[in-house]
Amino acid sequence: MIGSIPEEKIQLMRDGVDIVGLISRYVSLKRTGSNHVGLCPFHAEKTPSFSVSAGRQIFKCFGCGLGGDAFEFLMRMEGLSFVEAATRIAGEMGIDLEPRQLSSAQAQQREEKERLQKIAALASEFYHTQLLQAAEAEACRQYLNRRGYGRTSATEYQLGYAPRQGSALAEHLRQQGANLEDARRLGLIRARDRGEGDYDLFRGRLIFPIHDLSGRVVAFGGRILDAGQPKYINSPQSDLYHKGAVLFGLYGARQAIRQAEAAILVEGYFDQLALARAGFTHAVATCGTALTSEHVQLIKRYTRRVLLLFDSDQAGRKATFKSMELLLPVGIEAAVVGLDAGEDPDSFLHTQGPEAFAARLAAARPVVEVYMDECLTECAPGSAALAQATRRILEVLKLVADPLEADLYVQELAQKTGLKPEMLRQQLGQVQAPAAGGSSARSAQAAPRGVSAPAVARVNNQDPQGAPVLPVAKRQASSLTPAEAKLIRLLIFEEEVRQQVAHQGVENFFVDAALGQMASEILYQLQDVVAGQEVATLQRFTELYARLPQPLDYDPAEYADAGEQMLEPYRKKAADRRRRAMLKKQS
Ligand code: GTP
Ligand code: MN
Repeated sequence: MIGSIPEEKIQLMRDGVDIVGLISRYVSLKRTGSNHVGLCPFHAEKTPSFSVSAGRQIFKCFGCGLGGDAFEFLMRMEGLSFVEAATRIAGEMGIDLEPRQLSSAQAQQREEKERLQKIAALASEFYHTQLLQAAEAEACRQYLNRRGYGRTSATEYQLGYAPRQGSALAEHLRQQGANLEDARRLGLIRARDRGEGDYDLFRGRLIFPIHDLSGRVVAFGGRILDAGQPKYINSPQSDLYHKGAVLFGLYGARQAIRQAEAAILVEGYFDQLALARAGFTHAVATCGTALTSEHVQLIKRYTRRVLLLFDSDQAGRKATFKSMELLLPVGIEAAVVGLDAGEDPDSFLHTQGPEAFAARLAAARPVVEVYMDECLTECAPGSAALAQATRRILEVLKLVADPLEADLYVQELAQKTGLKPEMLRQQLGQVQAPAAGGSSARSAQAAPRGVSAPAVARVNNQDPQGAPVLPVAKRQASSLTPAEAKLIRLLIFEEEVRQQVAHQGVENFFVDAALGQMASEILYQLQDVVAGQEVATLQRFTELYARLPQPLDYDPAEYADAGEQMLEPYRKKAADRRRRAMLKKQS
């Protein structure tokens, strides 16, 4: 959808939107002269320094310095992309954004999505009413009570109960005249192999609704009430729900994350709930999956600091360091909150209380330090083992986005190993060729969509009429396979491919962490080309491009049929490589 909103409509919205009315929904504003002022929603303050000018259609905070137009406000406040914010404002102003641009396939897709959303909402409503009212839900209510949650929490989090009887939801949906095929597509019900009708996925379980960023229910997690197995069942992936791209609790936690300038990342639904209830409202949970690069991009919309709070067992530690590999390259500062062995955040809060927990948060240690210490303490005696451990640590240091920070870690590592910092820097440098200087401009035949040719030219100090050029700086030493190069090309130039890859998850296409990172940056950068910021976006993009090991020549004909089917081989290849890497590790 990049660039699909005509400039004149953007202008129309920028000029015509009721910016005071819009911002008033989030900030209580008072009129002073020609402006309105209030407490800034983007930083904590006691005296109002946040000002909105209806005349100039802008906001500005004289405390933290943030300012911009209505789009900017919504983007920051709600973590939306430009297109999402524009879509919302257009909706309110009754501006038709793209009636003719929606192909019939897209229109159909949108309509189907809306139908699925309706079903998910109906189901959520049903489960919630069951929990509050059904006699059978008494055991579930007691279970919640035992874990410290009463009716207020149940309402606040829209918790639910799925009846034991095998087809309660299916029957309810049928009575409501809902489309059962849609409910099947969400995995909520399934047609019986033998006999008539459908049976429910969730039976006799406590239900956690999972919301998207607009607060719509897209999926559910269901916990069993006793010690049975499986403990949790989650909605399968669907057109509504990509678990690698949804964080449980994020919808409710966005504001708090921004204000706390950090997000707490936990593993479980109950951990998220327990933290929120204890006042740590900036917590989110992955829904029974490992952290993905999409999660990371999502978090990055709100904060640059993540507190990792996984269970303190082997699996939790592994998850911590895997998350580290995704967080460091995008410049998110990650710290590890330590709990005692066998505790999870929920149980810790129960046994030790919020103050003890706050102390643990305050004592969070940078994840790189934790990693360093673990590698070195686990290291067997002898120089060979130490060298090996040092290399492993350097591998991680090369992921650190800020070179100054990386160097501070190098010094720390030098102290801890007794190796000379210069030696470590040299080792680090071998995998991290400097990007500066000696750039031989090489031409690519196209600019990424959504970035206008004049913008490209401005970056390159070039005549707007001339062919756009992306300068290519010195590249990383590592190399791309032809297939990877092609896929990156596709990502840059083909919106369709970007959507597909984002939808299916970057990690399903790139085994190499650095490449995967680059891919998700590309997705992210190009998704958010903000009007008026094309130059900045392109500069960022050019940096990314410069990190590619070889130039990407673009031949549109080659990608004429870019689509899901053509991506399949890439995903297969990545899966094969991952499998081979695992076998290699084991042998
Ligand atoms: P409680 O035991 O109720 O406190 O839950 P927990 O969140 O502490 O559970 P645990 O640490 O075992 O699991 C963490 C998360 O992994 C859960 O919130 C679920 O999202 C997921 N999970 C746990 N068990 C299962 C399971 O049996 N199947 C699936 N699909 N996911 C699970
Ligand atoms: Mn738990």
